[in-house]
Amino acid sequence: MLLERFRLDDQVAIVTGAGRGIGRGIALALGEAGATVVCAARTVAALEDTAAEVTRRGGRGLAVPCDVLEEPQLEHLVAETVRLGGRLDVLVNNAGGSMPMLAEVTSRDDFEAAFRFNVSSAFVLSRLAIPRMLAVGGGSIVNVTSALSRLVESGFVSYGTAKAGLSHLTRLLACEYAPRIRVNAVCCGAVLTEALGLFLDDDTRTRMEQQTPLGRLGTPEDVAILALYLASDASSWVTGKVYEIDGGTVDSNWPIRIRPELEPGR
Ligand SMILES: NC(=O)c1ccc[n+]([C@@H]2O[C@H](COP(=O)([O-])OP(=O)(O)OC[C@H]3O[C@@H](n4cnc5c(N)ncnc54)[C@H](OP(=O)(O)O)[C@@H]3O)[C@@H](O)[C@H]2O)c1
Repeated sequence: MLLERFRLDDQVAIVTGAGRGIGRGIALALGEAGATVVCAARTVAALEDTAAEVTRRGGRGLAVPCDVLEEPQLEHLVAETVRLGGRLDVLVNNAGGSMPMLAEVTSRDDFEAAFRFNVSSAFVLSRLAIPRMLAVGGGSIVNVTSALSRLVESGFVSYGTAKAGLSHLTRLLACEYAPRIRVNAVCCGAVLTEALGLFLDDDTRTRMEQQTPLGRLGTPEDVAILALYLASDASSWVTGKVYEIDGGTVDSNWPIRIRPELEPGR
């Protein structure tokens, strides 16, 4: 049966940034498909909540605190996963982000910090995870990148460039590790999470929805379904691909001018 190919019974997954938002949504989806899901982020209470919900939905949820910016903690995360779960099959590099900032006020440190958070952490964790995946015959890595990696908008020089790096890292790792490890990415448009909520009031939300062909913002569940497809055997003929999931957006729907006086034409 085709739907059986979405099942992850007996498989073990790590999801970073699983305490809330898109990461939590992905962790719950993998759990619903039967996986043991190691939920990783910095806030223990949020992780424990996600892990409990994974278990309630039919998987097995485990909480392992981890700051993805700290390499020893990434090493500990992989070691704990194998100790508690016995193996590692799926890695979702979801933790990431950066505050919008115009290029003229972005320092080298700001720029490199965005790269560390969005790209280097995913690379280092993938490097640590891959040998464990190869030990069980193969695995799947799913990276969470952004529509701002391909669309242009003021204020996203660090974040968009870093996410573009993550998208291409996806293709390059896939090339090196095919056929045993598949590496793909979900490229998200605006998804209703706490991170996006920082910028939304009723008016900006309405304007974003009006600029989105499918007329609404995304939910973590929208993204989680695609991530489950890419994590599971359902996508066994797919690697090195960056899947756009954004309500049909072809132009930026970001409604907030970071510094209106610096907008072109003003
Ligand atoms: N929301 C959107 O519209 C959107 C669009 C495109 C792409 N994305 C991408 O989707 C991913 C998730 O975004 P989101 O909107 O779901 O964010 P969110 O709601 O702010 O959730 C972020 C999660 O990551 C964790 N986290 C933050 N810093 C961390 C660190 N240093 N180490 C480990 N975990 C950390 C947070 O928990 P703690 O703070 O407890 O660690 C939290 O669980 C990001 O990569 C983001 O760039 C989001």
